[in-house]
Amino acid sequence: MNAAPRFRALADLIEATRSYWDWSPFGATDCPWASRAPELYGRVQALSDADAEHLMGDDDALLRWLAGAGLTEAAGLAEQIRVPVLADVHSPAKAETDPRAWAGIPGRKQAQIRAFLQALPPRNGVALEWCAGKGHLIRVVSRTTQRPGIGLELQPDLVVTGQALADAQGVAVSLQPCDVLRDEQRIRQTLSQTETALALHACGELHRSLVRQVIAQRVPEVVLAPCCYHLHGGGEYVPLSRAGAAACLRLSRDQLRHAVRQTRTAPPRVRRQQHALNIWRLAFDAWVREALGIDHYTALPPRPLSVLQDGFEAFCQWGARHHGLALPAMQDGAHWLDAGRKR
Ligand SMILES: C[S@@+](CC[C@H](N)C(=O)[O-])C[C@H]1O[C@@H](n2cnc3c(N)ncnc32)[C@H](O)[C@@H]1O
Repeated sequence: MNAAPRFRALADLIEATRSYWDWSPFGATDCPWASRAPELYGRVQALSDADAEHLMGDDDALLRWLAGAGLTEAAGLAEQIRVPVLADVHSPAKAETDPRAWAGIPGRKQAQIRAFLQALPPRNGVALEWCAGKGHLIRVVSRTTQRPGIGLELQPDLVVTGQALADAQGVAVSLQPCDVLRDEQRIRQTLSQTETALALHACGELHRSLVRQVIAQRVPEVVLAPCCYHLHGGGEYVPLSRAGAAACLRLSRDQLRHAVRQTRTAPPRVRRQQHALNIWRLAFDAWVREALGIDHYTALPPRPLSVLQDGFEAFCQWGARHHGLALPAMQDGAHWLDAGRKR
C-alpha cells in the first residue's frame, strides 16, 4: 500500500476545511462558519439529539449526511479514511481458541488482541510489547505463536500482576519495569534481541519513542496501534515521516485531540453522562459570563463522571472555587442549564 498520496490528500483536505473544525464550540457563542454555509448550518441546527448521536457513531452515515447537506468535501472521504487491509500479510498468526488464554482480559481488549493476531505475520524470535500494562497482548501472542515475549511497563504493580498471569499459564513472557522514555540502557539491550516490536494503545510520545527506537536499533518488524496522538512532547505536533514533514499541515495539541474525541466505543449510558457533563460546562460558562460580565470561555479541567451525582450547583461551586471566582449564589440552576443546552 502506498500511504503517501492518501496522506497528502487527507492533509490537504484537513487544511482546506480548517474553518469548519478549527474552533471550540465550548469557547464560542456563535458558530463561525454559519454565514458561509447557511444550508449546512440550518441542517445541523435541525438535527434531533438522537440523530446527532447516531451520526456521531457512524462515520459512513455522517459523511453521506454532510455531503447531502452541502459539504462537498465530505463526498468520497469515506474511502480515503477506511483503514487499509494489508495485502501482503498472507498468513497471519493463527487465532487463539483456548478460552484459558483469554481469562481476565476485558471484552474490547480481547477483540483488539484478536485483530493484532490477524495482522501479525508469522515470524520467530523475541516479540516485545512496549508499554505492556499487564502484558495481555504479549502473553496471548507469545502463547499462540510459541515465541518468547518481553513486556516493558512503567508501573511496577502492573508488572507484578502481569508476570503472575503469564507464569500461571506457563507462558514464556518476562515483564520488566522500564520507563521507555528514559531507561536508555534497558531499551537498547531489549531491542537488540527483538524480532518484532508490538504496541497497543501506547499514548502519544510513547508510540513516537517506539518508532524512533525501532528505526535506530533496526528492529526487523514493528506492529503498532497508537492512541492519544495529542499526548506528545508538547507544542506543535512534529510529524515523524517524510510525507508528514513535507505536508504543510500544522497542528497544535488541542487540534490533534480532535482525532480521539469521538466516543463511539463508550457504552450509551457513559455517552449520555458525558453529554450531560458537557452541558454543565457550558451552563457554568453561561452563568460566569453573565455574573462577571465577561465574554470569554471559562474552561474547567477534566472531572470524573461521578460528579454528576453531586448536582449542578455543587459543580458550579467547585468551578468557581477552582478559578478563585467570587460569584453570587446561583438563583436559578434550571435557567443556566437551559442556556448550556442551547449552546
Ligand atoms: C493505555 S495503557 C496500554 C496497556 C497495554 N498495552 C494494553 O493495551 O492493555 C498504556 C500503558 O503505558 C504505560 N506507560 C505510561 N508511560 C510509560 C513509560 N514512560 N514507560 C513505560 N510504560 C509507560 C502505562 O502504565 C500503561 O500501562
